[in-house]
Amino acid sequence: MILKGKHILVGVSGGIAAYKSAMLIRELIRRGAEVQVVMTPMAKQFITPLTLATLSKHPILVDFFDPENGAWNSHVSLGTWADAYVVAPATANTLAKMATGIADNLLLTTYLSARCPVFVAPAMDLDMMAHPATRLNLLTLQERGVVVVDAAEGELASGLSGKGRMAEPADIVLAMQDYFSRTEGLLCGSRIMITAGPTYEKIDPVRFIGNYSSGKMGYAIAEELASRGAEVELISGPTKFSVQSSLIKLTKVESARQMYEAALRIFPTCHAAVLSAAVADFAPAECADEKIKHHGEMTLHLVPNPDIAAELGRQKTASQTLVGFALETNDEMHNAQGKLQAKNLDFIVLNSLADKGAGFMVDTNKITIIGADGEATEYPLKTKVEVAADIADRLTDTMNNKQTRE
Ligand code: CTP
Repeated sequence: MILKGKHILVGVSGGIAAYKSAMLIRELIRRGAEVQVVMTPMAKQFITPLTLATLSKHPILVDFFDPENGAWNSHVSLGTWADAYVVAPATANTLAKMATGIADNLLLTTYLSARCPVFVAPAMDLDMMAHPATRLNLLTLQERGVVVVDAAEGELASGLSGKGRMAEPADIVLAMQDYFSRTEGLLCGSRIMITAGPTYEKIDPVRFIGNYSSGKMGYAIAEELASRGAEVELISGPTKFSVQSSLIKLTKVESARQMYEAALRIFPTCHAAVLSAAVADFAPAECADEKIKHHGEMTLHLVPNPDIAAELGRQKTASQTLVGFALETNDEMHNAQGKLQAKNLDFIVLNSLADKGAGFMVDTNKITIIGADGEATEYPLKTKVEVAADIADRLTDTMNNKQTRE
């Protein structure tokens, strides 16, 4: 949501990747940004201004003045209108001109007048990309604060394959979101640890004790907090998910013991922790070195795993916030309140398996947040992404309250 209401100027220079700028504009508008487009004369050969004008809902700017009526297209006012300027695709020619200050088209004069953050997404053939001149130009721009959204490897228009494909529009948007999260997010400057997913407790080289947690809720919380500018330390059990934001540092673990050790190491460096992992309560006393062969009945000797939440609750300082989850099937409020107190949490997020659409393996969740004072707030059934935003709101409030009390 960090791009909502932002004025974003998209500069399109003349390369085959110009067709992807249509998708970039759509992605930006979907996130609530207002978009204007400036094209180089050459770019019009690759994508029509009509397409981009329709998508951006603004006339396209190419010339210094409108040949029909002589109206002046002011690069200065465009430069000051923009909260961000993204040149995508940025050809080798445009990058070279940006680096040397050449101002022979509206895209370039606007760049020289822009006071906002500037992003470039290079797109060119692999040899042009690898040429020392291009590399130096990119370095020069980077040194001046331009954010380079690196080109990807792959098939190129020339038929060759290598580095030079423009980054995907979704990745360009992500880079812009990350930039604004880091500079403007409400949680800028805070570090938050998250545990997510299941843990696997090994029985032998091919078997384990696990649970149905997918990790989706924890990963959604991590992305939501990162989008608000927090540096996130995500400790994750085995899941199929990957992280999007560059503000998230992922530590992968398998067992409860490994999660416990990572959490104890990381928590002292954090302002808060959200413990959403479904940690196995027990692990086999021993992991067999070889696959266990079955001969009728078998008994597994289980020993308790360390309780991460309880240990962090003991270690927590007055300025740290600790949030837990409780997934219950019965006596929900009573059980959740018991965990809140026993683990010294600031609030607990309760989901009941009695509620349809809540819990593991679904995209939705229905939560009740219980505060340290015992007050419960019920939320309606929402997607896990929306639930993550509710949890992040409550966490932000709790962290702010602690800060003002200090
Ligand atoms: N938790 C943890 N380490 C454990 C067990 C639980 O950090 N070994 C955390 C969970 O991540 C969650 C909270 O404690 O935030 C409650 O987890 P839950 O499994 O519901 O609670 P338990 O204390 O294990 O109680 P029970 O399984 O008996 O319901």
